[in-house]
Amino acid sequence: MNTQTPPFLEIRNLRHSYSQPVKSRVQALSLDHMSAAKGEAVAVVGPSGSGKTTLLHILAALICPTGGEVLFGGRDIFAPHQSGALWRAESVGYIFQEMNLMPGFSALENILLAAEISNVPGFVARERANSLLQRLDLWNQRNRRPAELSLGEQQRAAVARAVVHSPSVILADEPTASLDAENAGIVMNILTKLCAESQTLLIIATHDEAVKTRFERVVQLQRPQKEAI
Ligand SMILES: Nc1ncnc2c1ncn2[C@@H]1O[C@H](COP(=O)(O)OP(=O)(O)OP(=O)(O)O)[C@@H](O)[C@H]1O
Ligand SMILES: [Mg+2]
Repeated sequence: MNTQTPPFLEIRNLRHSYSQPVKSRVQALSLDHMSAAKGEAVAVVGPSGSGKTTLLHILAALICPTGGEVLFGGRDIFAPHQSGALWRAESVGYIFQEMNLMPGFSALENILLAAEISNVPGFVARERANSLLQRLDLWNQRNRRPAELSLGEQQRAAVARAVVHSPSVILADEPTASLDAENAGIVMNILTKLCAESQTLLIIATHDEAVKTRFERVVQLQRPQKEAI
């Protein structure tokens, strides 16, 4: 009998190619194997076009890979009858390079909206949002809209929005790319601390050497060689 617990995340023979209008496909990602435990922090690095964003989109079930498997807790997230939307709402926090905060809503409202989408009860969401705003040093800015926040404040609000529903994995795509070194350090510190405290798997795609050196686990992607037909 196999009594081994599967790793929290396991990727097997993952491939993705995007279809193009003129009957060709762009080979975008090739990753034979990767596994990670809860609470681990992993940096995904590689040259531009090597598939870092594609990988994060697949892990968030925003796109379905053209080959291979992604298992979380031993369960294939792309198996028939699995809902990508449910997986995202319950288990994923996503941080974008460009923050993607909703422009018409305040920092607090952006965080509460994300909590609502993930079905966090209102009073729990408020309590968590308040505590995150304080920890992220955003309390005094909580009623300001994104355009009224500095880039560092916007990215901290994006971190709060990504973690408010206590996801089991945080996917962060170049989260420090728009920030200066000081703000990048602040965002990375709080992100790694929040994830370690709650045993959340953190996967960061980055070009930034200063960010990369913070991680014991680094997954290197290579630009796929061939154009698929
Ligand atoms: N929607 C799409 N349709 C067609 N091709 C795409 C699409 N998105 C990405 N690609 C291509 O797939 C490959 C991988 O892109 P991806 O954005 O994942 O790379 P990346 O490693 O994140 O790059 P960067 O470091 O510049 O952000 C590239 O060749 C890109 O042009
Ligand atoms: Mg990218």
